[in-house]
Amino acid sequence: MNTSCRLWVTMLAVGLVVVATSAQAADKLVGNADAGQAEVSSVCAACHGADGNSTDPQYPKLAGQHAAYIEHQLESFQSGKRANSIMSGMAGMLSKQDIANVAAYLSQQKTSPGPVDTYQVKLGESIYRDGVASAGLPSCESCHGPKGLGDSAKLYPRIAGQHAQYVVQVLTGWHNGQAWGEGPHAKLALSVGQKLTIEQIQAIASYVQGMNAVK
Ligand code: HEC
Ligand code: HEC
Repeated sequence: MNTSCRLWVTMLAVGLVVVATSAQAADKLVGNADAGQAEVSSVCAACHGADGNSTDPQYPKLAGQHAAYIEHQLESFQSGKRANSIMSGMAGMLSKQDIANVAAYLSQQKTSPGPVDTYQVKLGESIYRDGVASAGLPSCESCHGPKGLGDSAKLYPRIAGQHAQYVVQVLTGWHNGQAWGEGPHAKLALSVGQKLTIEQIQAIASYVQGMNAVK
């Protein structure tokens, strides 16, 4: 390669890096946790608690949830992929920047421990750890992790300490065929719910609520 040719190749490479970086910056808004806190305390706290730890178990805890997952769910409520009459109204009021802000704030809060629920907790634990081979269901742990903390990069939510009542609500919805859209994650979640019986769902929910040993 002669010198001028090498120069062109270098310039082209630099140009591509610049384009790639600015495209990423345009996609990803940086959340402001202080602005998020203000939004949460004025609008969301009534149901989800001021620090994202709801006390009414029909509303999910959001404290300590991955920011990327909170953003993903708020966008799903906005688009109607995840149907819920309350949350479609709430999410509809939020701009992209508001979403990034509340997600930043909530993800930084500590999940409050849930009371240990002893209802069939051993059955729940065995499903969490080992799945249900006869139903072709992999362990919950294989995606949500040994401590229930999920995986932000893969958009697998944290579930440790979540209210059992909410977990039953979500898994029963999937069991009955109500998907959260048609994307690969929604299909995956639907198949998890459909491979569980109602009794197994209740057992797993009490185990998940009691997964408190971790932050
Ligand atoms: C009037 C009660 C109410 C208010 C106020 C409310 N929510 Fe919700 N939220 C709900 C309910 C109910 C659900 C569960 C929906 C479902 O079952 O699909 C939910 C679910 C969510 C979820 C999904 C959580 C998960 O684990 O999948 C997020 C994220 C969320 N809300 C964020 C917010 C934010 C941010 C605000 C404030 C801007 C807010 N909510 C205000 C009732 C409320
Ligand atoms: C192969 C991976 C995988 C396995 C195995 C799996 N999950 Fe999930 N789970 C997901 C994904 C992905 C989502 C988010 C779905 C979406 O975004 O539409 C999810 C969401 C959830 C939620 C909703 C959390 C929230 O607040 O929004 C609960 C509860 C849950 N899973 C429980 C379980 C339980 C219990 C098991 C075991 C019986 C299990 N999952 C097995 C991938 C998995």
